[in-house]
Amino acid sequence: MSEPILRIRGLKTYFFMERGTVKAVDGVDLDVGKKQILGLVGETGCGKSVTAHSVLKLVPYGGTIVAGKILFEGRDLLKLSNEEMRKVRGTEISMIFQDPETSLDPVFTLGYQIGEPIELHQVIEQHLISPKEVPKKVLEALQTVGIPDPKARVDSYPHQLSGGMKQRGMIAMMITGTPKLLVADEPTTALDVTIQAQILDLMRKLRQKLGTSIFLITHDLAVVAEMCDRVAVMYAGQLIEETDIIPLFEQPLHPYTQVLINAIPKPGAKRGKLATIPPLIPNLMRLPRGCRFHPRCPKATDKCKRVKPQMIEAERGHLVRCHLYS
Ligand SMILES: Nc1ncnc2c1ncn2[C@@H]1O[C@H](COP(=O)(O)OP(=O)(O)OP(=O)(O)O)[C@@H](O)[C@H]1O
Ligand SMILES: [Mg+2]
Repeated sequence: MSEPILRIRGLKTYFFMERGTVKAVDGVDLDVGKKQILGLVGETGCGKSVTAHSVLKLVPYGGTIVAGKILFEGRDLLKLSNEEMRKVRGTEISMIFQDPETSLDPVFTLGYQIGEPIELHQVIEQHLISPKEVPKKVLEALQTVGIPDPKARVDSYPHQLSGGMKQRGMIAMMITGTPKLLVADEPTTALDVTIQAQILDLMRKLRQKLGTSIFLITHDLAVVAEMCDRVAVMYAGQLIEETDIIPLFEQPLHPYTQVLINAIPKPGAKRGKLATIPPLIPNLMRLPRGCRFHPRCPKATDKCKRVKPQMIEAERGHLVRCHLYS
């Protein structure tokens, strides 16, 4: 693979709370290749969104990036000033947030918020279009993402829109730019299936036309199967497996990944045979010794209770953090 567009190394993002420290992201290494769609999967609370927010240096209040490097085209974003970072966010890296409430500003209309970056980048900085064309671009974007009655919605404020409309508004912002990297955190969760398919299609087109790399966070393995080239699996603040899309489904190595994959209902399979693991979501303030997954792992041995496993390359390009393979 050529030099990746995004290279995350040793990332640790912690929340310092009165009751203790939440190690939401605890030593993540990850590369997103040029034009690649990399998926990040894992159950709720494992640190996916905090990882995504860390890339854009938008960690929620109370959280701090305590260690690591985030290299975007070789530049460490963690070393940029706020001003420089704002520029990167507007032009080179776009983000779709899981929670659209946090990314639309309540005091501006939807049309204004979509139009502003177009004005800034395409009119003022790059002279690609004239100011008169901006409203047309905004309207086109709203039509593309399937917002009903887009002409009227241009003048709506965020509180006048439903959750799904806000999410589409955010996606409209993203498709009007020309980002090199798109960080999409559960971009389709709030949407119904038809719109979901359209949005995924839009993202694929973005990659095709502009060569945009995509860092796609989702808990939906069907979306992963349809979209991703490569996938990282996260558990309790760490990556536990990383591989190309086909081996993920055909030969998952980590017992946790195996449970995730086996839980997908297969056509023709007998009912009532779903794999289950004890629903023990780990407490990120008080992590178990040894392997973080051992209390739930059907294959855990004594060693797993004592010794932390390292990430190793079990097969070419297939990484796993599990004593079974060391
Ligand atoms: N603002 C915050 N203050 C304190 N802890 C937080 C905050 N935001 C996230 N966390 C903690 O960090 C951990 C990881 O959260 P994160 O939002 O990254 O999970 P996630 O994998 O995105 O889950 P989901 O699939 O539900 O979106 C969780 O344990 C959460 O409680
Ligand atoms: Mg999340």
